[in-house]
Amino acid sequence: MHARVAAASTAALLGGAVLILPTSPAHSVTGSGGPVVVSHRGASAYAPENTLAAIDKADDMGFRWVENDVQRTRDGVLVVIHDDTLTRTTNVEEVYPRRSPWKVKDFTAKEIARLDAGSWFGRRYAGAHVPTLEQYMNRVSRNHQKLVMEIKNPELYPGIERQTLKLLNNAGWLDADHLRNRLIVQSFSPASVRTVHNLRPGVKTALLGTPSVADLPAYAEFTDQINSSYTSISTGYVAAIHAFDGPHGKPLEILTWTVNDTAAARRVAGYDVDGVITNRPDVVRRALSAY
Ligand code: G3P
Ligand code: CA
Repeated sequence: MHARVAAASTAALLGGAVLILPTSPAHSVTGSGGPVVVSHRGASAYAPENTLAAIDKADDMGFRWVENDVQRTRDGVLVVIHDDTLTRTTNVEEVYPRRSPWKVKDFTAKEIARLDAGSWFGRRYAGAHVPTLEQYMNRVSRNHQKLVMEIKNPELYPGIERQTLKLLNNAGWLDADHLRNRLIVQSFSPASVRTVHNLRPGVKTALLGTPSVADLPAYAEFTDQINSSYTSISTGYVAAIHAFDGPHGKPLEILTWTVNDTAAARRVAGYDVDGVITNRPDVVRRALSAY
């Protein structure tokens, strides 16, 4: 029985006495009283997404939690980038005009390292690079940040779960402190999330999407969170998620995305979500502090 249910039962046992018990561990991602704010692809409204500059920007703004997207190069190096092509966020078409369709998986790490991943966003970020995951982990470690890591398009990269866990282990991110407080691994692919859980059961995991309530018990076998688009959820859906315990014996949690304005931030806080993933962490923090 988890704490929300325990509180309700205690109130019932007291015969309807006017006693409201706290419902923690709601928001146990933070251990604090409100939804945690996660900077999506770094503080991506203010610096080019998934670059080291974007996580430094989140750090400068005072945000501990960042989110990223991990994929793999042709020669097997893990890199941090959202799209499966390099075109939107780098100058790849200029540097390699004959390499259409410019898929991440078709370029070596050395080739990708040559690209400018900042100019598309603004001149002051010219020269920013697509970071390797190793570079990225060094920076989040240096910044004492916490990470929601997404394994992106895992069907394109067989074995990426094991490889990612190995890198996290080498970076010191699979020790007890990181597992308890600083790391969540997520994917839209249930198979990928299940693989991560089976390989390293201590890792906190999240399934992206909005599965039906009927499917939640099966997912709760291997995932700790269901992280859904804010446009797809309701108070009832969030309550349904919280009603199941995950593989670590705690209620499933929900971090919702991508919430970038005050009204939406307040709406999802009213749903009792555990966290809000946003390109504009300052806007969400302000909205929630006045909530
Ligand atoms: O973390 C949630 C969110 O990142 C999922 O969507 O497409 O931005 O990776 P996407
Ligand atoms: Ca993502």
